[in-house]
Amino acid sequence: MERTLVIIKPDAVSRGQVGEVLQRFEKEGLKIRGLKMVILEKGEAQRFYHVHRERPFFESLCEFMSSGPVVVVVLEGERAVARVRQLMGTTNPSEAEVGTIRRELGSSIERNVVHGSDSLESASEEIPFFFNQLEILS
Ligand code: RTP
Ligand code: MG
Repeated sequence: MERTLVIIKPDAVSRGQVGEVLQRFEKEGLKIRGLKMVILEKGEAQRFYHVHRERPFFESLCEFMSSGPVVVVVLEGERAVARVRQLMGTTNPSEAEVGTIRRELGSSIERNVVHGSDSLESASEEIPFFFNQLEILS
């Protein structure tokens, strides 16, 4: 069993697509083990995405991610990291496979609805970024 972190990004929250995104993961058998809505301060978004600090899109990304509420979710299941990434689709919605979350709901390479940990190692850093032990069910 793996655990992974999903963030439903501000574009999807403001469009009222939280339920739809969660449903797509739940329908595939991934279990919700932790869930909350937060508003990131810009500095927190910068810390979360620090691996991208040298990238040209970093400033805009952190501005966007702190522009409104996000829903953070711990999902659990077999091969959860890879399965979530597959359900999300590739970063750019217009290049993502038909039927994926980003392809169906995303509006630009930045406003792409959802984040998912890209490895088990990332998940093990990203989950405690948002959740303490008492907030994750087993
Ligand atoms: P994520 O980390 O959010 O799950 O997305 P990802 O792995 O598919 O993509 P990544 O390369 O890690 O980029 C993180 C987020 O930055 C925004 N982005 N904007 N304007 C651009 O060219 C650009 N490229 C990436 C997206 O919101 C992307 O999800
Ligand atoms: Mg990434």
